[in-house]
Amino acid sequence: MKVLLFGKNGQLGWELHRTLATLGDIMAMDYPEIDFTSADRVREAVRRVAPQVIVNAAACTAVDRAESESDAAMAVNAAAPGVIAEESAALGAAFIHFSTDFVFDGKKGEPYSEDDTPNPLNMYGKSKQAGEEAVEQAGGPFLVIRTSYVYSLRRECFVTSVLKWAREQTTMRIAADQTGNPTWCRMLAGATAQLLAAGGRNVVPWLHERKGIYHLAGDGHASRFDWAQEIVRCDPHREEQIVRRIEPASTAEFPTPAERPLFSALNCSRFHDTFGFRLPDWRYALRLAMEGQ
Ligand SMILES: NC(=O)c1ccc[n+]([C@@H]2O[C@H](COP(=O)([O-])OP(=O)(O)OC[C@H]3O[C@@H](n4cnc5c(N)ncnc54)[C@H](OP(=O)(O)O)[C@@H]3O)[C@@H](O)[C@H]2O)c1
Repeated sequence: MKVLLFGKNGQLGWELHRTLATLGDIMAMDYPEIDFTSADRVREAVRRVAPQVIVNAAACTAVDRAESESDAAMAVNAAAPGVIAEESAALGAAFIHFSTDFVFDGKKGEPYSEDDTPNPLNMYGKSKQAGEEAVEQAGGPFLVIRTSYVYSLRRECFVTSVLKWAREQTTMRIAADQTGNPTWCRMLAGATAQLLAAGGRNVVPWLHERKGIYHLAGDGHASRFDWAQEIVRCDPHREEQIVRRIEPASTAEFPTPAERPLFSALNCSRFHDTFGFRLPDWRYALRLAMEGQ
């Protein structure tokens, strides 16, 4: 299988680069070698590599920055995935693209299914929703995998921030009214490789038969407060912590340029029903992720 991976240095892309390598030839790129703000460069890269499968983990994920840099967010998160999908369809390749729980407004009060209507609250969510639509419209074999609260121990994220705050603050206040599914990027990358391996030599028609949008994130959901408590508890170097109390706070205490959905947990049963597996419980995955620290 010949695979083209975009976003190889990101949280998810870094893991994908390693897990997808077992499938065959992998050509992996990231900024600045490839710049998603240039549709021509994206088109040229896909044509030059002419892969059987394209996996896109590149994105503008700076949620607050997207409010003031909406043109860049739209170019990277919407226009470029649209170009990749068009080129992929023209090549007869399959395209796996990632999207986000932030396409929802968080007002449903229970986990979102793929049948729920997106209503993003911020520019990042709007650009990702536009990307989903562009990928779908291109008409080729595609999967859009919406995921949530992605973390990695190698790049700055909520988990690494909590570990740092626990070494700097005796009392930590963490939003208890923001809920999602914490997702270890390594589990998501492994699941992506497992999917492609299941398709095997017939991966393109196999994915074509199953094409669509799917939710795939750590099993179960948690507030940021619950998540922070678990991070502090699983820290293998607890002796370095000075934190004594973790207090529940409200999102309103931490004003940010971008509004965030409060309850954006994802229901992943369509993925499980279609492909026969799910990501493990978020606490279990977090423990495994922290063991490597
Ligand atoms: N992080 C989350 O909590 C979360 C939640 C739900 C869904 N997702 C989705 O999951 C996917 C992977 O997210 P992630 O957390 O792994 O993202 P990430 O760590 O921010 O990685 C994104 C990658 O895209 C690259 N990139 C940014 N601008 C680019 C450009 N103009 N041209 C080419 N590449 C560019 C980044 O390079 P630089 O580092 O140099 O900018 C980075 O390597 C994305 O589709 C994201 O929307 C993420």
